[in-house]
Amino acid sequence: MIFTTIREIRHHINEEKKKGRQIGLVPTMGYLHEGHLSLIRQAKERGNYVVLSIFVNPLQFGPNEDYARYPRDLKRDEKLADEAGVDAIFAPSVEEMYPEKSLTYVTVEKLSDTLCGLTRPGHFRGVATVVSKLFHIIEPDEAFFGQKDIQQVRIIEQMVTDLNFPIKVVRCPIIREEDGLAMSSRNVYLSPAERREAPILYKALRRAEKAFLNGEIDGNTLVHLVKEQIEQSPSAKIEYVRLVHLKTLDEVTKVTDPAILAVAVRFGTTRLIDNILLEPSQNLHYMHKHEGEHGGA
Ligand code: PAF
Repeated sequence: MIFTTIREIRHHINEEKKKGRQIGLVPTMGYLHEGHLSLIRQAKERGNYVVLSIFVNPLQFGPNEDYARYPRDLKRDEKLADEAGVDAIFAPSVEEMYPEKSLTYVTVEKLSDTLCGLTRPGHFRGVATVVSKLFHIIEPDEAFFGQKDIQQVRIIEQMVTDLNFPIKVVRCPIIREEDGLAMSSRNVYLSPAERREAPILYKALRRAEKAFLNGEIDGNTLVHLVKEQIEQSPSAKIEYVRLVHLKTLDEVTKVTDPAILAVAVRFGTTRLIDNILLEPSQNLHYMHKHEGEHGGA
């Protein structure tokens, strides 16, 4: 079932809520891939009535970004959503979501000003604003977001806390192509040669992860390992490689708390992001130091 107006989807959700259904929202910009489908499956597994929103949100694109050419294929999305078990699709027009020029925005300070926020000013304000609108329209119990956009997830989690949305944000793992490239609707922009080079991002992150698991916790060293590997790729232009605290997104010099090693790299006009989570409890030195603390002989 596909709904294009706020009035209709609200009415429909109210009816489902009256039947006692728990609502799970999967917000997307469409052009669905396996990453989105995994969010849908997760939402289903948790017993939700699954609402998929498809809306290419102009507010989160900068003037020189890819809003106009962002891939769109509603028919294909409908079919994939249906096969994955989506219960209702909300696919509004831009006029439906923004009938007049908005004067109200949601800004999550600090977390929006780092990493991707540095080169995409206004992007996270656009994301937080549209997600809060979707939360008000759908009023889901749970909402599902992929860890690939970890900064986005942290911003939404913070917004949910700060603005008291009664919604559980469920963070879902990154889904990758067989060669390691993180799934993204933007991967279709890559030329065949760029596509062949793009898995270098994950390869580089894995290189640092391996060093970390073997005991390396120094931020500069881990960042250097990633940069050195990506620089091997002739068409990759690094925008950033950063090691940040999972919660605050502040730069960290040593991994003593859960941290994110995050990259943004351009291949021609295509900007790709990826990240891995580094958990101190999985680090060899940490494990030796804390051996025997957690029960056992
Ligand atoms: O991750 C996305 O696809 C978008 O940023 C989102 C969350 C649907 C908001 O437009």
